[in-house]
Amino acid sequence: MSDVVSYQREDEIGLIVVDNPPVNALGHAVRQGLLDALDQGLADDGARALVVMGAGRTFPAGADIREFGQTPKEPALPDVINRLEDSGKLLIAAVHGTALGGGMEITLGCDYRLALDSARMGLPEVNLGLLPGAGGTQRLPRLIGAQAALDAIVGGKPMKAGQLEKMGVVDKVVSGDLKAEAIAYARQLADDNAPRRKVSELTVDKESDTVFSDYEQSIARKKRGFLAPFHCIKAVQAATELDFAAGQKRERELFTELLNSPQSAAQRHVFFAEREVGKVPGIAKDTPRREIAQVGIIGAGTMGGGIAMNFLSAGIPVKMLEMKQEALDKGVALIRKNYEATAKKGRMTSEQVERCMSLLTSTLSYDDLSDVDLVIEAVFENMKVKKEVFGELDRVTKPGAILATNTSTLDVNEIAQSTRRPEDVIGMHFFSPANVMKLLENVRGEATSDEVIATVMDLSKRIGKVGVLVGVCYGFVGNRILHKRQAQAISLVNEGATPAQVDKVLYDFGLPMGPFAMADLAGLDVGWRIREGLRESDPANAPERNWLDALAEQERWGQKTGGGVFDYAEGDRTPRPSEVTAAEIEKYRAEQGIETREISDTEILERCLYVMVNEGAKILEEGVAMRPLDIDIVWIYGYGFPVYQGGPMFWADSIGLDKVHAKIQQFHDETGHDDWKPAPLLERLAKEGKRFADL
Ligand code: CAA
Repeated sequence: MSDVVSYQREDEIGLIVVDNPPVNALGHAVRQGLLDALDQGLADDGARALVVMGAGRTFPAGADIREFGQTPKEPALPDVINRLEDSGKLLIAAVHGTALGGGMEITLGCDYRLALDSARMGLPEVNLGLLPGAGGTQRLPRLIGAQAALDAIVGGKPMKAGQLEKMGVVDKVVSGDLKAEAIAYARQLADDNAPRRKVSELTVDKESDTVFSDYEQSIARKKRGFLAPFHCIKAVQAATELDFAAGQKRERELFTELLNSPQSAAQRHVFFAEREVGKVPGIAKDTPRREIAQVGIIGAGTMGGGIAMNFLSAGIPVKMLEMKQEALDKGVALIRKNYEATAKKGRMTSEQVERCMSLLTSTLSYDDLSDVDLVIEAVFENMKVKKEVFGELDRVTKPGAILATNTSTLDVNEIAQSTRRPEDVIGMHFFSPANVMKLLENVRGEATSDEVIATVMDLSKRIGKVGVLVGVCYGFVGNRILHKRQAQAISLVNEGATPAQVDKVLYDFGLPMGPFAMADLAGLDVGWRIREGLRESDPANAPERNWLDALAEQERWGQKTGGGVFDYAEGDRTPRPSEVTAAEIEKYRAEQGIETREISDTEILERCLYVMVNEGAKILEEGVAMRPLDIDIVWIYGYGFPVYQGGPMFWADSIGLDKVHAKIQQFHDETGHDDWKPAPLLERLAKEGKRFADL
């Protein structure tokens, strides 16, 4: 008798129940247990039909992802599902929770599908760099046609029970007690002598001859660099061209290719890393959390407004504070405009817009913040200003209120010292646009209490963000690493590369844009003003004037002025090489007496990425990031590092740290630059033949 799958009979119906918490994943024991329970059900003469269901919170949510990468153990899931489909009794899947991946594929091996109205089903394997490899790519098109199957398999999004019923996947949607409903439905089907319905025996509706090439074209841009979506298309195409057995063989070949690909390894790493970042050593489930029922936001600019939207969208009331009525009105209007734009795209109803707006109040007085549970400051990036704001917050907010700063560079500890409650102060660094970007760097100060950390990490999830806890240093994890990469990009151009060449190499690696297109998006004036400030206040340590300063002085500030490092045509964000920039670079090289040389794409990639890895290792040593996976998630959700490369630290592991270290050492020998001084941690791991993942 299996521990994880049971068989019992109730009211002439045999119940096969998977009980493998937390999500009833289809590991080896479950697969074997399903076959054993099926045999029991088939041998049970008293059972007129069999129901497959999950105990606890869900129908099986897919294969056990932790088993991928290990030697596969029989029985394989496709064989289990084929056995279910070929069995001699009427089979009904009764779904609640999330029937995902292999879970949904099990339902496709049954004759009938019943679902609770709250249930969702889907084939999200593509998000793990895989395809539904247990017959899903062959059965689903037979059930709903090629086009709809492509949407489900390549899109990878779970669908609601009602929608699935309309599509013809689910036969009946019920509410209330699933087990009772399933037994009643199975009895009814048995009484009616309902026919067996083997999905594998259906023929596929291909709809049009160009359905597959059209689909490939439609995803070409969005899925650039990914392998799995294109393999999914090939597998569905096989369902239209081959009989079921041959199609399933083709599906297996394509699945195996993906399973063994570095991309899937990276995407599986990201799946677990995303869950791991929420687990903070020292913070337990029973660490007390504070209730956050109302939030105050200081600053109604682009950042403050974007931050406010996260809370409003999650149903949490916000009080927004500004110094002047005009700025406040502008901020509120911008929030409304953003929501209305979302509604226009059909992603929100007008009632939802009004509900969000009704949760927003505004004020010019700090005293109005006396009842909020959390305040997030999003004012000008200046220590003096921030300290004044925190002094005021300390005065007006109630005991136990959490005081957060959205600073991207300043010292959270120093800010905390301007209050009498540094234990309540934390950094919450949102990424622009704050209502869109999923990353939230939560910055722990020296005094920040566990309670505050636990509350803010939970809250990140509640507002749909991936919260990563980091420590204090200039730029924290994300921007500190970014600055090192940007410095390399500029050096590469100084030495002979063009901005377009550097950008292309990183774009081809999978980043959404190169360093210079990114600088144009952020605005060249931002860095220039900071450098100018330093030149005034601290001339001895100020950075040397370079060609980027020259561009900024000509008011070439990037996309917003129609030109920066690149030129931009009116209403078009495509970066085009600029003659002005080329001339400024030439001038700079001549002034500096730089003799240019040909720079290879390999050198560009190595210098831009290895410098990130080296800085990442330093950040780990300092304890600013807790684990390599925290750095990976920061870069994936904050900067669009390609998911299929797994993040900078995972990527370095996949190259081999000995190789990465040797190159970094070589760059250090050649330049003597501090950025290339190998991090002792990297040195040690390389010597020991270890990976960051082994830490
Ligand atoms: N295998 C192994 N572990 C899994 C898992 C899976 N398929 N799905 C979830 N888990 C684990 C999580 O890692 C997490 O573990 P920890 O508590 O140790 O961190 C735990 O289960 C709970 O998961 P979540 O924190 O994600 O819980 P949630 O309630 O927020 O979400 C869920 C539940 C919607 C099922 C979500 O976990 C999910 O999307 N899981 C993955 C589903 C999936 O991709 N299935 C396809 C698998 S591939 C496949 O099936 C291939 C095939 O065709 C044969």
